[in-house]
Amino acid sequence: MSAASIDPAALVGAARGAMAQAYAPYSKFQVGAALAFADGTLITGSNFENASYGLSLCAETVAAASASQQGHRGGLIAVAVIGGPGGIVDAIVTPCGRCRQILHELAALGGTDPLIIATGAHETVEMRLSTLLPLAFGPASLG
Ligand code: THU
Repeated sequence: MSAASIDPAALVGAARGAMAQAYAPYSKFQVGAALAFADGTLITGSNFENASYGLSLCAETVAAASASQQGHRGGLIAVAVIGGPGGIVDAIVTPCGRCRQILHELAALGGTDPLIIATGAHETVEMRLSTLLPLAFGPASLG
């Protein structure tokens, strides 16, 4: 992937691969996410549930934390999300509200508005993060 270009098929493929690593013994709903950066880096995550159910982490959150840990805090250009019960993909999965906010933090650090690619069995929906989270609160809001 060259600078600032998005290869949707590769990104969705990476998300699908990450989904296979989901730890979702409670909901059985497996999700994978893949983050694409302008330098060509792809970083993936899958949901990581917890016996204390409310502490479970979504795939997008795991991927965002991994990106930060690997030093990618700018240049987020696209995010693919895919999932389904038992890893069977049917309907699209869009980032939950908490993940929208977490992705916004990562995006805001580089001033990008990443394309969110939600792929199901019958359709792919693409939208900008700013559409999913308008008037977002972010680093700049703190003054
Ligand atoms: N989940 C994600 O990983 N990402 C989303 O955007 C939606 C929901 C996970 C959380 C939980 O482990 C399972 O899907 C069912 O909600």
